[in-house]
Amino acid sequence: MENFDFVCPTKIIFGKDTENRVGEEVKKYSNKIMLIYGGGSIKRTGLYDKVINSLKENHIEYIELSGVKPNPRLSLVNEGIKICRENNIDFILAVGGGSVIDTAKAIAVGVLYDGDVWDIFIGKSVIEKALPVGVILTLAATGSEASDSAVITNENGWYKKGIHSDLIRPQFAIMNPELLYTLPPYQTAAGAADIMAHIMERYFTNVRNVDLTDRLCEATLKTVINNVPLLMEDPKNYNARAEVMWAGTIAHNGLLDTGRVGDWASHKIEHELSAIYDIAHGAGLAIIFPAWMKYVYKHDINRFVQFAVRVWNVDLSFEDSEAIALEGIKRLESFFKSIGLPTSLKDAGINADRIEEMADKCTVNGKVTVGQFVKLNKDDIINIYNIAK
Ligand code: NZQ
Ligand code: ZN
Repeated sequence: MENFDFVCPTKIIFGKDTENRVGEEVKKYSNKIMLIYGGGSIKRTGLYDKVINSLKENHIEYIELSGVKPNPRLSLVNEGIKICRENNIDFILAVGGGSVIDTAKAIAVGVLYDGDVWDIFIGKSVIEKALPVGVILTLAATGSEASDSAVITNENGWYKKGIHSDLIRPQFAIMNPELLYTLPPYQTAAGAADIMAHIMERYFTNVRNVDLTDRLCEATLKTVINNVPLLMEDPKNYNARAEVMWAGTIAHNGLLDTGRVGDWASHKIEHELSAIYDIAHGAGLAIIFPAWMKYVYKHDINRFVQFAVRVWNVDLSFEDSEAIALEGIKRLESFFKSIGLPTSLKDAGINADRIEEMADKCTVNGKVTVGQFVKLNKDDIINIYNIAK
């Protein structure tokens, strides 16, 4: 096991009706805030009215910024930064999924940064401070409600990039599984693929003697695999929603990383897909992750055997280790298909004519490698996109 620091200060407020406590929580930080949300789902579901009532009851002034799009855009981040500065806003409340939360985090950083916030995304500068952010989560997927990252798309060239810092972990995350009842099945499924990907990025490591986190990863994966099909049948199954929602936070709050080095190649390869083709991040991962596995499994067959046996219950009667490893990958792919996700570029209606461009962007024109489990160069990434065709 490697040395590690682990910090996850986000207060989780989990369960039925917890959204009504938002004003009380926000009041601990500010009485003048920015309220950010997306394309209107929170108005249709009635959540918006509950939030406003709770803010008003607690005498909190708010300025709204709406219209966050999936794969959130830099232009709205810049607009938010300007509004916050002009109005002396010192707290940001995000109500929505990962796109809304990431927009809030990027604004929180940008308000206190003396320069172009995109500098931080391209590594020209680092995060030194950020406004506090609070969250009401409406989609179990990204783990952004407690993660140290935010991912934003710059429309100027369609670059999708992330920032990382413990300073952008939200102060609190209100998580009521009932708020997810209105999700379209495709978003529930894409969210599940993202949760699973966050675990698998950590699971495939070269670090040895990480038994505890291996087992935590396997348990969290199995929880998602067992509960998501129940949600496909009944979106209002509270217990299944609760299990998947909590798994989403655990998958990406850093706990499953402790003592190990994660891979993250599949995420980087996927981000180029969703940057250009604007598909849901989780759907992109359902396409890329199995392709990545098929390309790298020989690097450590035993790890893939462990994954197949412990997570997918593959029995050892297969002829050899390679057959067991491949069966595990096949079961992952079948699971994604069974919940309605694409597992190839073709399934997602994407023709393969921009593979070279995506591989270039992913490797900064071939200058860097991607991933830790296996370090992939531009040609490797082209091969993975080709497997995903
Ligand atoms: O915009 P609204 O109207 O709210 O609708 C959203 C959106 O259309 C809808 N939705 C959300 N909650 C709903 C709902 N519809 C009905 N009922 C509800 N309860 O769902 C759609 C997708 O929302 P979005 O926020 O885009 O989805 P998600 O949470 O999957 O976020 C994806 C973004 O997060 C990034 C992804 O790359 C992508 O840009 N990620 C962020 C990470 C992080 N910050 O730690 C890590 C991830 O790996 C990921 O990269
Ligand atoms: Zn992800």
